[in-house]
Amino acid sequence: GNDGYKLWLEYQKVSAPRLVRQYNEAISGIVVKSQSATLKIAESELRLALERMLDKKISPLNIAAHNAILLGTPESSAEIKTMLSSGNFSLGDEGFVIQSRRINNMTTTVIAANKDIGVLYGVFAFIRLIQTHQPINNLSIINVPKIKNRVLNHWDNLNRSVERGYAGISIWNWHTLPGYIDQRYIDYARANASIGINGTVLTNVNANSQVLTQEYLVKVKALADAFRPYGIKVYLTAKFSAPIELGGIKTADPLNQEVINWWKNKCREIYSLIPDFGGFLVKANSEGQPGPQGYGKTHADGANMFAGALEPYGGIVMWRAFVYDVRVQKEGEHFTEGSGGEHTQTIASGDRFKQAYAEFKPLDGQFKKNVLLQVKNGPIDFQPREPFSPLFGAMPQTPLMMEFQITQEYVGQSTTLAYLAPMFKECLDADTYSKGKGSTVARVIDGTIDGHTVSGIAGVANIGNDRNWTGHLFGQANWYAFGRLAWNYDLSPETIAEEWIRQTFNNNDAFINPVKRIMSASREAVINYMTPLGLNHIMGTSHHYGPAPWVKNAGRADWNPVYYHKADSVGIGFDRTKTGSDALAQYAPEVRQQWSDMNTCDYRYLLWFHHVPWNYKINTGSTLWNELCYRYQSGVDTVRWMQQTWDGLDNLVDKERFQHVRMLLGIQEQEAVWWRNACLLYFQTFSKMPFPPGFEEPY
Ligand code: GCU
Repeated sequence: GNDGYKLWLEYQKVSAPRLVRQYNEAISGIVVKSQSATLKIAESELRLALERMLDKKISPLNIAAHNAILLGTPESSAEIKTMLSSGNFSLGDEGFVIQSRRINNMTTTVIAANKDIGVLYGVFAFIRLIQTHQPINNLSIINVPKIKNRVLNHWDNLNRSVERGYAGISIWNWHTLPGYIDQRYIDYARANASIGINGTVLTNVNANSQVLTQEYLVKVKALADAFRPYGIKVYLTAKFSAPIELGGIKTADPLNQEVINWWKNKCREIYSLIPDFGGFLVKANSEGQPGPQGYGKTHADGANMFAGALEPYGGIVMWRAFVYDVRVQKEGEHFTEGSGGEHTQTIASGDRFKQAYAEFKPLDGQFKKNVLLQVKNGPIDFQPREPFSPLFGAMPQTPLMMEFQITQEYVGQSTTLAYLAPMFKECLDADTYSKGKGSTVARVIDGTIDGHTVSGIAGVANIGNDRNWTGHLFGQANWYAFGRLAWNYDLSPETIAEEWIRQTFNNNDAFINPVKRIMSASREAVINYMTPLGLNHIMGTSHHYGPAPWVKNAGRADWNPVYYHKADSVGIGFDRTKTGSDALAQYAPEVRQQWSDMNTCDYRYLLWFHHVPWNYKINTGSTLWNELCYRYQSGVDTVRWMQQTWDGLDNLVDKERFQHVRMLLGIQEQEAVWWRNACLLYFQTFSKMPFPPGFEEPY
């Protein structure tokens, strides 16, 4: 059996004789001269991996010997110093080079970087070559990450529940910290380092100020110490009202001197424990969280206060742009005076889509240098498919960070196999046209389009204490893919899927190819059976699992599915053109034009932007109603095909993982049918049209 704990770091024995010979010939041992924690880890990880994969003892070598692997930096190795100064490698602080070269007339594989962490990244890249059965002679690889801050966001609460977590409870065991360093923390760090993730926000965006107390900060320090050698910085979420809750101050007004001092002192305290603390992630004036608007101040005032306190230590603020109608509060929640609830501005009333842009665009240019604005990929909330947020490209003076959701809140949670790399990639590749053609979202967030030196990308983690970390084994692929794309957004989802399959399962083509096809089809299948043609946010209220397009009393208008699909006797969809909310006006003219005409609008986004009559012939050639029926049915069909395909692989994978995936696909098939039936039968009450000929009737 295999419970999936080892993730993509299985390091399975290579058995093909040709490869065993080749690898053994190329590797005699490891040379590394340094006592730094990171280089020691690089050496021991490489040794562990090679010993398992090649099934032989790997000896440490003292001098460059024939077929040695030489690891290091200019500081640790004279040979590497010579090599790196002789070429123009531009490796920066995290990049690495892997090169086969002759040193002292011996064939050597050099894994080199300017800094220790680059060497560790290089080691993982080298290990991956063997894991995926690539040749390792004549290597000449230079690899530098495109985005600087590659961060996981854990929505973990201090009581270990995880907001939108579907894989058990939080892996942070606050009770046994700081004294107990669970092996899981180390394996978490190894897994992240292996894909280049270099930051982790430990706590939920719906923050608890308790984590900023000394009692918790020493626990945070213990985690930071464990993660440091793996190049991972620790961040915390900052609750805006902490000065009130912890400091006994009467206000949290960001321009109040007492408040400013409180945060300055807090930062001094944090940095005295954790000298490389990354900074804060802040959710303010959103879904009931307190923020600067509660004091008549702007998001910029709020963000800059934190930025000022972090500045002396090099920390950053990741200020979230996920805001919508600040006046309305969650049921059962009460605002205390000055905490944000009394703010009465409605900026984009009528269309939640428009709110973030309306609030933040006017603040462009007002943020301090160490503030990044963290923007969700789409304008609403992590739907199976969204158009890119109109903020990308619209705030050239502010570094914008991407926020993806790896955890599958709206994508079937952990009973659903949905490979999300195509979703991440679709957004990163989207063209904002902010500086003409080719101004992709990726180039906005990597800072190249507007010349920012700081850049970032965040993924809301799907990690919990389940034995396999992510609930659904294939959730691991989404964690993996996030890291790989954060490092290099030019990788294709197929390449990443193949890497992941080879490292996680095996290198057998008879297994790899069908699994790759399953993964490639999976997200589109989910879109089809949940929210085809640009439908969105019709999931069950609050839990977001399963269909509930009929809900109209969720507590506030913009939580109601009916608000999003607007089905009526005429048609379905949200008119965001000039005749409707005109949200399209927030995009560059070229983008607007792409979507503004119902006849030419890509069918995948159609109902995001148009209220389309049921019997209207859309550009797929069918009437809207028929197309909707076909899409829902094809989603179900694809899941059935995924089941059959997986069932055919039973002798190519261990029983435990085979059964795990098989049973979950069984549940997913039922869910797909449930979605199709619920949505079509409900929408049919408006369309009053029959199901198309040959259609499998919902029961
Ligand atoms: C979604 C999610 C919330 C989360 C919020 C956020 O709305 O359902 O649980 O807090 O996003 O990103 O802040």
